[in-house]
Amino acid sequence: MKTKIILDVDPGHDDAVAILLAAKHESLDLRGITVVAGNQVLEKTVQNTLNMCSMAEIDVPVYAGQASPLFRDQEVAANIHGESGLDGPQFPESTKQVEAQGAVDFIIEECLKYDKELVLIPTGPLTNIALALIKEPRIKKGIKEIVLMGGAYGLGNHTPSAEFNIYVDPEAAHVVFESGLPVTMVGLDLTHQAKAYPHVVERIKQINSPVAKVVVELLEFFGFTYERVFGFEAPPLHDVCAVAYVIDRSLIKTRKLPVVIDTNKGPCYGRTVCDFYGVTGKPANVDVALELDQDRFWDLLIETLQKY
Ligand code: RIB
Ligand code: CA
Repeated sequence: MKTKIILDVDPGHDDAVAILLAAKHESLDLRGITVVAGNQVLEKTVQNTLNMCSMAEIDVPVYAGQASPLFRDQEVAANIHGESGLDGPQFPESTKQVEAQGAVDFIIEECLKYDKELVLIPTGPLTNIALALIKEPRIKKGIKEIVLMGGAYGLGNHTPSAEFNIYVDPEAAHVVFESGLPVTMVGLDLTHQAKAYPHVVERIKQINSPVAKVVVELLEFFGFTYERVFGFEAPPLHDVCAVAYVIDRSLIKTRKLPVVIDTNKGPCYGRTVCDFYGVTGKPANVDVALELDQDRFWDLLIETLQKY
């Protein structure tokens, strides 16, 4: 039985590779791709999603979501993903069109079809997911779990305290983390274990297909900005980790912890505060990703890319 999923993205280089994995792996039934503003403004993240789907011949509906966070001003990550949000490859004009239905309404409509069966995989700011939960709380009956890329129990990346996806819309993150739904947080402490080192890029290059060529071009640009901004020796494929976990739970070790979102407008705004020692006495509400089986992770991604 395939796992029914909705992928909520803000492409974004790592989102783009996550789309390729989610659309092709035989264990997943990708019901739709919803798009949110994040790495770039909504118009660009939607176009990037359409370009990726068109290039890879992915026949999955794409829905445009929220152009700005619930309360705060939009922030983008052009320093990491470039002016287009997906700098590096040159994409031919996309033949794919965005759906007329909005992302939030699609999420609501799709969730209401099921009984604890749909897995939501947000890999950008959580605005679309939060709004769907606010607009129609009944959707919880259809959601099996939310496996999100975001947060960190260690260092942030957009501020010293906060990871980008959470920081862009902390109030939306609060809605999701306090929803009572099973939430798995695939944060930076995990995703920084998924760095695409040269030997990984070489394996992808050896696939020698148009899709693999685009992935290599994405990684080259992503690697350049991660080296310039963070001094990393290779770019981490954050969002791919969340999709990989839904495919194979044995790839990632997790621990259930109390996690709250700091929505105070101070230096820790948007921080995912993870209570490892239980000192708060709060209930453990989130499965926090700790350790990645890197070899099997790359094997999974590369084996799936070979199917394009
Ligand atoms: O902090 C990393 C996350 O922010 C990734 O999802 C990346 O695509 C950006 O959205
Ligand atoms: Ca993302």
